[in-house]
Amino acid sequence: MVNGEGRAFDGDLRTTLLDFLREHLDLTGTKKGCDQGQCGACTVLVNGTRINSCLSLAVMHVGDEVTTIEGIGTAADLHPLQQCFLEHDGFQCGYCTPGQICSALGALDELRRGVPSHVTAELETSVSPTPAEMRERMSGNICRCGAYSNIQDAITQFVG
Ligand code: FES
Repeated sequence: MVNGEGRAFDGDLRTTLLDFLREHLDLTGTKKGCDQGQCGACTVLVNGTRINSCLSLAVMHVGDEVTTIEGIGTAADLHPLQQCFLEHDGFQCGYCTPGQICSALGALDELRRGVPSHVTAELETSVSPTPAEMRERMSGNICRCGAYSNIQDAITQFVG
């Protein structure tokens, strides 16, 4: 399932989830940056958990619910977090933005579920994380333009 629609996969078994989304389904909102799991531009949600889609094969996700940026909001109906990014100029070139938004939503869900941080291995249980906590959780998402402070402001407003 991709963004609530059943999708068939009959391609090369070596096809990454990222390439399947972009090249087979034409869901180009998910970006390819490094293609090596280092930049976070390809972040999508799988059953609510954020992953780097460049590191995962499409065939591994039969039966999973994959959500891309196209499934989060549209130009006519922005997700509230996307609206916060707009209000705070949480981007410059915008290339990393879909991954940033998917990652932030996934990180907030991790906090809600009590999933420990990969960086500190400390169990954070707050559903209202501090900017520092979110910076740590978002550390896998690189912004080459360096719009980090605006991204942080957007997420802080969204978290409320
Ligand atoms: Fe997947 Fe960079 S393209 S982490």
